[in-house]
Amino acid sequence: DWRSACILANCFSCRNFNLIVIYVIIMNLIFLGPPGVGKGTQANLICNKYDLLHLSTGDILRLEISRKTEIGSFAKSFIDKGELVPDETLLKMMNNRLNQDDALNGYLLDGFPRTIEQAKGLDLIMKKIDHKIECVISLLADEDELVSRLLKRGLTSGRSDESIEIIRHRQQIYWNQTSPLLNYYEDIDLLMNVNGVGEINDINNEIIKIVNQYA
Ligand code: C5P
Ligand code: MG
Repeated sequence: DWRSACILANCFSCRNFNLIVIYVIIMNLIFLGPPGVGKGTQANLICNKYDLLHLSTGDILRLEISRKTEIGSFAKSFIDKGELVPDETLLKMMNNRLNQDDALNGYLLDGFPRTIEQAKGLDLIMKKIDHKIECVISLLADEDELVSRLLKRGLTSGRSDESIEIIRHRQQIYWNQTSPLLNYYEDIDLLMNVNGVGEINDINNEIIKIVNQYA
């Protein structure tokens, strides 16, 4: 892995009496935005480019459901209705996840936190393990665009929460419960806004410009 590569590079360079200093910047990013705005698509691209661990809480929950675990069966009833799974469950799940070794090299949180309570809990979890958030990228698009994207995705995604009523409800939940996070992160100077309407590549380039400030 790249850590061993850095150590090796340093050893070789010492033998040759050259000093190579390799800076390793570990980035932890958050993607915020309403359902359908392209968090997952952009997160995949960014995680490949910067070698970050992609942590999509929606995907993690759906995996728990398919494995019929305790968390999965508890979460299913909320997900099917388009409601948020209680903060306590998400925080416990993410506390476990972020304490695993593969979270040491930088990660991108996609779909978490979703409430102020989750954001505060995340702050505590990260403080305990000495991690910090580099930046929070908010993607936005107007609701009609998002609803039509999700209806289209629903034709093939096999997701239980992509009927028109549930899609609309999830948009409402974003504005009621998640959008206060925009102010929360703006107040601590972490928020960066990106327009979520346009070509995937153009949006990706906008995000890269922002992330490069930290990389
Ligand atoms: O992020 P995604 O849209 O895939 O999430 C799907 C569903 O998972 C949400 O509508 C919600 O029911 C649940 N979820 C949650 N809390 C999170 C992330 C996802 O309740 N932090
Ligand atoms: Mg997603």
